[in-house]
Order: sequence, then structure tokens, then C-alpha cells
Amino acid sequence: MILSIESSCDDSAIAITEIATKKLLFHKKISQELEHSVYGGVVPELAARLHAEALPRILEECKPYFDGLKAVAVTTTPGLSVTLVEGVVMAKAISIALNIPIIGVNHLIGHIYSLFIEKEAHFPLTVLLVSGGHTQVMEVKSLMEIKTVAKSMDDSFGESFDKVAKMMNLGYPGGPVIEKLAKDGDRKRYNFTVPLHQSPLIAFSYSGLKNSVRLAVESAEADDYEDIAASFEHIATAHIIQKLKKYFKEVSPKTFAIVGGASANLYLRSQIEELLKPHGATLLLSELKYCSDNAAMIGRVALEMYEKEMFSSLDELEICPKSVI
Ligand code: KG4
Ligand code: ZN
Repeated sequence: MILSIESSCDDSAIAITEIATKKLLFHKKISQELEHSVYGGVVPELAARLHAEALPRILEECKPYFDGLKAVAVTTTPGLSVTLVEGVVMAKAISIALNIPIIGVNHLIGHIYSLFIEKEAHFPLTVLLVSGGHTQVMEVKSLMEIKTVAKSMDDSFGESFDKVAKMMNLGYPGGPVIEKLAKDGDRKRYNFTVPLHQSPLIAFSYSGLKNSVRLAVESAEADDYEDIAASFEHIATAHIIQKLKKYFKEVSPKTFAIVGGASANLYLRSQIEELLKPHGATLLLSELKYCSDNAAMIGRVALEMYEKEMFSSLDELEICPKSVI
């Protein structure tokens, strides 16, 4: 079995995955959403302290599996440096205590493999990753062949939902609450501009849209919020659809996947389904419980890396807060 740890942002999670069968034997996640909600976003220092409490508590529940562990895996990149370190220190301690190898896992590859928890992986895939930290399109041929073909120049899709929710004093995370508010709103009432719509670049940008929404919120009454949320969600999604449409003219997708916390957004899912129809492409989605950050997806990547003996020595294993794909 492999024990995997995730602590790149505000979720403390540990999983145990069986190597021979890919079965997830144990998975527990303690989210810090409530604690960060009053601040309207993740406070790194607080997140680190909460991981230091939560991770050992979850680890204690894993004791019955310790004898059968063949490796320990941990997210090393990308993420908040002070929270990544919490997981890495724990992984190193386990590696020393049990004398087992250690595997450093890229969180973004984790989101890709969230599609294949307890399953075989199938490639090639075109993947849209939409999370709190990232908005990017990747061509994935295998574990080792991942090419980013478009990414955000500033804020991410999920982050823009968080910021809009903060403007409306709706707490953190913003995605689910803005999606709920948008359901009864008029998507056409606020005529926000689609970011980069005149640019030939296949890239994303959410900072301009966020500022337009801020101006609308400042001059609105609370009962306008549904319409603002709906119009914002519509334009934030239209931006992705426009850029994907452009990209699909160059590379027609056969199998397309949406991963990351914001892939739970039903409006985004439905718009992408429409976009894929003329291409006859298949849409893959992770199970809802594995869209947001979790340790099961880190364990799933670790299975592939274990097979290839992609281990790190204790000295080599370092955190890297910035994304490397
Ligand atoms: O993947 P994730 O759990 O963490 C990162 O790796 O960043 O994604 C969290 C992000 C947050 O920004 C959250 O607001 C967003 O995903 N999110 C959503 C929805 N559910 C979560 N964004 C839009 N619509 C949703 N339904
Ligand atoms: Zn994530």
C-alpha cells in the first residue's frame, strides 16, 4: 500500500491506496473552509497551523495500515510554501520511521489522475484544469508527457468566484455560493466584457472581469446580486468557451476532461458539453468528491510513480510553490 498526503492549500488529507488493485482503502480529508471563510480567502499562516493539527489526527487512523506500507507520497508542488512543508515534513518522518521510499507528487498531475481513481488511466486527453490556483489547458499523453497549451495570465477561474463572493460578503469558497446565487439570476442583465475576446492569444485572464464585477457590486443593491452572479458566471464561462473554440480549430479533441475544484460548476459543464458535440468528443469528469483537493488523487499518481521507481531521497525532496507544468 501507499500512504499519500495532500496539504498544498486548505485541505488536510491522507489516503491509503492498494498497489496491486488501485483500490482506495482509506481516505479522509479535513477542510479548513469554515476557518478561512471569515477572511474571504485562505490565510497561509492559519492554514499551516491547521494542517499541523489535522494531519497527525488523520495519520493516527492510518496506524492499522502501517505494516503494509511500501511507500509514502506527498504533494510537493505547486501550492502555498508554508502548507506544502507540513505534508513534506510528515512524509519524511514516515519514510524514516518505516524505512520506505518517498514519492514527491505534482498536485496538478494529481487533478488529472482524479479522473482515474480506482481505475486504469487512458490517454491521450485534452484537459481543462479549473481550480482556485489554476486555469489551464493541457495535452496529456502520459504521466511524463504533459504539455500546457493555454494558461491564465493572472487570476484563475475559481479564484474569480472566490473574489466575487468576497465582494458580496458571502464567505469562502465562493464557487458553490456564487453558482447557487446565479441559478435564479438574469445572465444577460449585466453586460460584462468577455476577457481577451479580441486577442488572438489562447490564454485566460480574470482580473479585468473581477474589476468590472467590483464596480457593479459597488453600485448595486443586495437584490441585484443574483443577476450580477449570473452575468459574471456567464461571462467567466464564455471566456473559456471562446478560447477553447479557437484552440479546437487547431486541435480537434477526441477525449476532453474537466478537472479541479471548479469543474463541479454545472453551468461550465453544460457549456463545454455543447462545445464538444460537433467534435463528437467524449467528456470525462472526476467523481464530484474528487474534484476538489484530496489525497486519493495524489495516491493515484503515486501508483504510477511507484511502478516506475520514481523515488526521491530525503535531501532531494523539496517543495516548489510555483507550478512546474
Ligand atoms: O481544486 P481546488 O479544491 O483547490 C485548488 O487546487 O485550488 O479548487 C478550489 C476552487 C475554489 O476557488 C472554489 O471557489 C472553486 O474551486 N469552486 C468552484 C465551484 N466549486 C468550487 N468554482 C465555481 N463553481 C463551483 N461550483
Ligand atoms: Zn487543487
